[in-house]
Amino acid sequence: MNIDDVRKDFPVLSNSVYLNTGGTGPISVKIAKEIQNIYEYARDYGPDTPKVKSDLENRMEETRSLSANLFNVPINAIAFTRAISEGMNIVAHGMDWVKGDEIIVSSEEHPSGIMPWLNLRDKFGVKVVKVKVSEDKNTFLSELNDLINKNTKLISLSHVTTDTGHKLPAKEICSLAHENGVAVIFDGAQSAGQFSIDLNDIDCDFYSFTAHKWLLGGWGVAGFYVKPEWIEKLNISWTGAYAGIWDRGLKDDVVYETTAHKFEFGGRQKPLYIAMGLAIDYINSLGINNIEKRVSKLTEQLRAGLLEIPKVTLRSPVDLDFTTGIVTFSLGNIHGDQLSEEMLKRNILGRPSLRHTDISGLRISTAFFNTEDELDFVLNAVSDISNKI
Ligand SMILES: Cc1ncc(COP(=O)(O)O)c(C=O)c1O
Repeated sequence: MNIDDVRKDFPVLSNSVYLNTGGTGPISVKIAKEIQNIYEYARDYGPDTPKVKSDLENRMEETRSLSANLFNVPINAIAFTRAISEGMNIVAHGMDWVKGDEIIVSSEEHPSGIMPWLNLRDKFGVKVVKVKVSEDKNTFLSELNDLINKNTKLISLSHVTTDTGHKLPAKEICSLAHENGVAVIFDGAQSAGQFSIDLNDIDCDFYSFTAHKWLLGGWGVAGFYVKPEWIEKLNISWTGAYAGIWDRGLKDDVVYETTAHKFEFGGRQKPLYIAMGLAIDYINSLGINNIEKRVSKLTEQLRAGLLEIPKVTLRSPVDLDFTTGIVTFSLGNIHGDQLSEEMLKRNILGRPSLRHTDISGLRISTAFFNTEDELDFVLNAVSDISNKI
């Protein structure tokens, strides 16, 4: 991977030290241009003329195929969604709930990974219990095991947690869950695009992913993997055009698709789904394993440097099995918002983190396009702030 060439693809990198891919990943010149090209094509030849329509639909299906390959699952198991939350809600409203059913989430979920379950709690009396995210795999799995009981119906976890970037042991979680007849959904917001993910091997029941972070594919487009055996079992919640066939006016029978398409409804932002495919293509061209290796090297540099700065407390894991591109730290008692502002004054874009706990800090998302020099610049900035407090 030639980093100088890669960096030319992302103009933002000449304007700031961009370390918030965990918030929203930058989009490339090529993707922004292609979205514009597609709109111009539709503008000039008509969005609904057969040729334009079929060109765009075929390209959208290429994105579905690229997504399926990225996760090593069948193409028919991928539904297009608009956000991680949509995938979570497909499951929340697709399973049957009775009072007393239990759902296990982690202590570090994003609102997308907990609000759908709290909604079920308020509607049906489902219980939501939390397992503490811990760095020791055996401790985590043993605490998870202790929480599973005959009422547990679903485990919903971030594959990589949003605040501290812990990578949870997905395969072991699924195996433990399935031994107990419990289904598993992962929120893949912070994982997809960071490292290789083989959902066939992990064996989860559902996986919700988004284009707008580590896949660098832009806002408002996402995907949902549903294990083939669940396609028929999962009830439909919202539905409409493209989920199946309803014979206009002759009879009122609905025939749903027999693939994950049945969870899709309504018209789509076709250019943006095509952009998601281009983004996956770009990741593939660099090689997901190369991306993972580079990110791991950069984050090691960042972690090691941070640990040498007085008043820094690292909040992210250090065990390589658990680390990702997300490195979160606290500096003395400075609030994350203030730390973030101090960084912004130096043109460094991170994100305040751990807002919902009594510990505050800054989340740095290190992506493959970041450089060693940028991280040194960040470390100097943290040192400088540390000296002033
Ligand atoms: C773990 C996690 N889940 C979900 C999201 C976003 O979810 P949605 O696509 O529903 O906005 C984020 C970040 O925005 C996140 O960090």
